[in-house]
Amino acid sequence: MLKIGSIELSVPFLQAPLSGYSDYAMRRLARDFGAPLTFLGVMLAKSAANVKVLKKDIFIPREDEHPIGAQILGREPEVMAAGAKCLEGAGYDLIDLNFACPAPKVLARGRGGYLINEPEKALEIYRSVRAAVKCPVTAKLRIGYDGSAESRENFWEIAECLSAEGIDAIAIHGRYVKQRFRDASDWAILTEAKERLGGTTIIGSGDLLDAESAAKALSDSGVDGVLIARGAIGNPWIFRELRSILEGGEKCGEPSITEQGEVILRHFELVSELYDDGKAVRYMRKFLVHYCRRHVERKRVQASMLEAENGEELSAAIKRWYCL
Ligand SMILES: Cc1cc2nc3c(=O)[nH]c(=O)nc-3n(C[C@H](O)[C@H](O)[C@H](O)COP(=O)(O)O)c2cc1C
Repeated sequence: MLKIGSIELSVPFLQAPLSGYSDYAMRRLARDFGAPLTFLGVMLAKSAANVKVLKKDIFIPREDEHPIGAQILGREPEVMAAGAKCLEGAGYDLIDLNFACPAPKVLARGRGGYLINEPEKALEIYRSVRAAVKCPVTAKLRIGYDGSAESRENFWEIAECLSAEGIDAIAIHGRYVKQRFRDASDWAILTEAKERLGGTTIIGSGDLLDAESAAKALSDSGVDGVLIARGAIGNPWIFRELRSILEGGEKCGEPSITEQGEVILRHFELVSELYDDGKAVRYMRKFLVHYCRRHVERKRVQASMLEAENGEELSAAIKRWYCL
């Protein structure tokens, strides 16, 4: 069980916020395969506070996806609070504060991972968001801004203060901001975080690309939960497999070729409800390159699916290669 404030989840894993990926289609499949909570990709607090933006269908959680989290990015405490309040009003069950994003344009504006350099500002943001909403509030951190000792101290200062102030959970990606995705994620820091931050729910993130790695990270580090991120792209089965390992000690069998095809088609149908035909096919490609990894003829399947220029061609290619 994973407890995040008033939210109690039956399994200790979540689908991470994945900007550009975790739309309703990906979230729905994750839920179908056993992720107990998913996130919308990060949103600028300023946009979340804008009534016109938040009215758009893609930003409104659907009835079948609670509990669902929203994550906000910004640096002005009052804007972050306003964004959080609007997202809670729109139906989100949890607000996560992004103190982790490494994108240069985000850092240049002093947002996301940059805030690890400013513990006081990060705490001010937390306090104003906490005061603005009733739902659980969490934060996502990286383990420093750069590799320096000073930046590691800033990370600990933020994490310890958030913990002391009763934040509902802290998610930690075991790389520093400037590292982006280089080198391995440092899980020793996650172990230390759980030891040092005791009563606070700690959620680990980094390099959990398959169910076995996620199960091992959970038991080796002692964290309360893990975020599945890249490992879920074109691979919703990771949630079923992880649940199976955690419940029974063994991974369930590989999905059959027809099940794979059915899930890819279902994903494409969900995507086609969100975007027009041309965009849906183009958008789907970044998932298809991952979906076909499980196929023995991966290269040919990938080429054939990526060649499809419209929905009809893509559906036909999926049906042909996956024996539907
Ligand atoms: C395409 C992509 C989009 C991401 N978007 C977000 C985001 O919106 N918010 C966030 O906190 N982290 C985001 N992340 C980081 C992940 O949530 C996760 O912490 C990171 O990928 C490490 O986990 P992994 O190595 O298991 O993928 C993103 C990562 C990727 C690859």
